[in-house]
Amino acid sequence: MTCAKVPGNIPTGSKTIDEYLGGGLPAESISLIYGEAETGKTTLAMQCAVNCAKRGRKTLFVDCDDTFSVERLTQITAKQFAETAEFIVLAKPRGFREQAAIIDHLTEYVTNNFALTIFDTFTSLYRLIVSESPPKTFELNRELNRQLAVLAQTAKINKIAVLITSQVHSVLDHVPVSVEPVATRVQKFWASAIIALRPTENPQIVEMSLEKNPRKLQTKTHLLRIDESGMHDCSSH
Ligand SMILES: Nc1ncnc2c1ncn2[C@@H]1O[C@H](COP(=O)(O)OP(=O)(O)O)[C@@H](O)[C@H]1O
Ligand SMILES: [Mg+2]
Repeated sequence: MTCAKVPGNIPTGSKTIDEYLGGGLPAESISLIYGEAETGKTTLAMQCAVNCAKRGRKTLFVDCDDTFSVERLTQITAKQFAETAEFIVLAKPRGFREQAAIIDHLTEYVTNNFALTIFDTFTSLYRLIVSESPPKTFELNRELNRQLAVLAQTAKINKIAVLITSQVHSVLDHVPVSVEPVATRVQKFWASAIIALRPTENPQIVEMSLEKNPRKLQTKTHLLRIDESGMHDCSSH
């Protein structure tokens, strides 16, 4: 596979993903990473922020799950924590309305030197409010769609990459299935790149496939390894 590198793309830490995406997460559009819990979504998102920092560009990391770990970032950055951390701005919305406010004011946050905005996990606050007020599901679905539309437009106008992560639940999780298909469909619709992560029998190995890539390349499944240093192609170890 030849890799036509596009300047401005943000490397993910997986050479395979980067090749499919023409050098990494594309600027000017939304990329989606989805998978079950513990499949490395947050790790991959952090690696993108770290690689963005290495290029001297800032990331707005919106930690909707409250799972951002400084310890994990320290592991991923190895000895360059201090230099990296100054390029990562962390936001912790406490509810779906606060998430909306961040999105609606994104152009004020992401001034010149920002190249990436991450929402990890994009639908966790949506799920929470839907479970609290089921009669509002229709209205909340529309709001989810609106947020993604605003994000897509902001990415394009401001030439920033937007990465959203999404958690899918296994049938064993017993979550209400009513919101799942809508949320998944809406996120996939707005994403120009879709990275799917699936667990394997080995908890350190994850199966990755590109469901959608801007280069429209034929894709197959690849294995990634999660370890202390982050998440990388199996073959590179
Ligand atoms: N220091 C580490 N060494 C090895 N594996 C790690 C380390 N830190 C986290 N992990 C693994 O990473 C996975 C969790 O990754 P994470 O990115 O949080 O997943 P997700 O966001 O999809 O829930 C777990 O399987 C965990 O065992
Ligand atoms: Mg996570």
